[in-house]
Formats: sequence, structure tokens, C-alpha cells
Amino acid sequence: MAKALNAELLQAEQAKVDANVLSGYDLVGFGSGIYYGKHHESLFYFVDRLPAPENKRAFIFSTSGIGMPPFIYDFHKPLKKKLLEKGFDVIGEFSCRGWDTFIRVLNIVGGINKGRPNKKDLRRAEDFARGLKI
Ligand SMILES: Cc1cc2nc3c(=O)[nH]c(=O)nc-3n(C[C@H](O)[C@H](O)[C@H](O)COP(=O)(O)O)c2cc1C
Repeated sequence: MAKALNAELLQAEQAKVDANVLSGYDLVGFGSGIYYGKHHESLFYFVDRLPAPENKRAFIFSTSGIGMPPFIYDFHKPLKKKLLEKGFDVIGEFSCRGWDTFIRVLNIVGGINKGRPNKKDLRRAEDFARGLKI
């Protein structure tokens, strides 16, 4: 995604959040693995501290152990709600499976989704990111 968008990558935990943190960017992607049904808490902490964006388009991405149809349970919903409240325009969302060794017994069998995101997932991610430029 970063390659397709020629984007800068920032880790939420290490980001210096000040009034200018978003200046110079017209599209901001927010993503992490899914933890207990939502994005990682460090991302919520980061978004909470962001200044209100001016015409900032955003997108959301994630990897998760299991895939849930959004109409049953939407892992992106809590972060999306926060971004919309903040004033972002959320223009796209991407998710795919990620290697998951959370449950102890899954560790013994090597976890689920080993090797994910795989080449196909990464290609989908790149295509998704390209689509955001249109
Ligand atoms: C503590 C913990 C909680 C998790 N909770 C969920 C969950 O609620 N739903 C899910 O589908 N996957 C869950 N997972 C699996 C992760 O979302 C998955 O492994 C993801 O690819 C991790 O991405 P990361 O390594 O980039 O953080 C959990 C993993 C851990 C370690």
C-alpha cells in the first residue's frame, strides 16, 4: 500500500503527535491487527490525540485471525466511528487474514493462517491502494 501510494509509514506508538502531524498529507491510512474485536489500542490512543483534520481523507486496514462478514460483526466499526467523529472522511477499507497464534492450542498446531498475508493478499492490498488514488 505504501509503495502504491508513495506513502510515509509511521508507527502509532512512535509517532510524535503535534498540531502539524497531519500537515502535508492529503490521505491518511490507519491500520493494525485486530485485537479483541477491534484495532490495536495504540491506534485509538494515537487517533484520540490527533488534531482535527482539515479535509483529510482516510482509509482503514487490518489483518485478523478470522474473517467476519461486516453485517455480522464489523472489526473496523470502532475505529471508523472514532475517525468520523474526529472529522475524517473514510473513503475505503481493506482487510485480510493474518497469521494468528493467539489461542494456545493454535500455537501447538502452528497457528491459523500461517503465511498470511500472502502474495495474493498483498496484491489485493496494492490494488486497493491504487484505487484510492483515482
Ligand atoms: C491478544 C490477541 C487478540 C486477538 N483478537 C482477535 C480477534 O478478536 N479477532 C480476530 O479475528 N483475530 C484476533 N487476533 C489475531 C490477530 O488479529 C492477527 O494475528 C493479526 O494478523 C495480528 O496482526 P499484527 O501482528 O500486525 O498485530 C488476536 C491476536 C492476539 C495476539
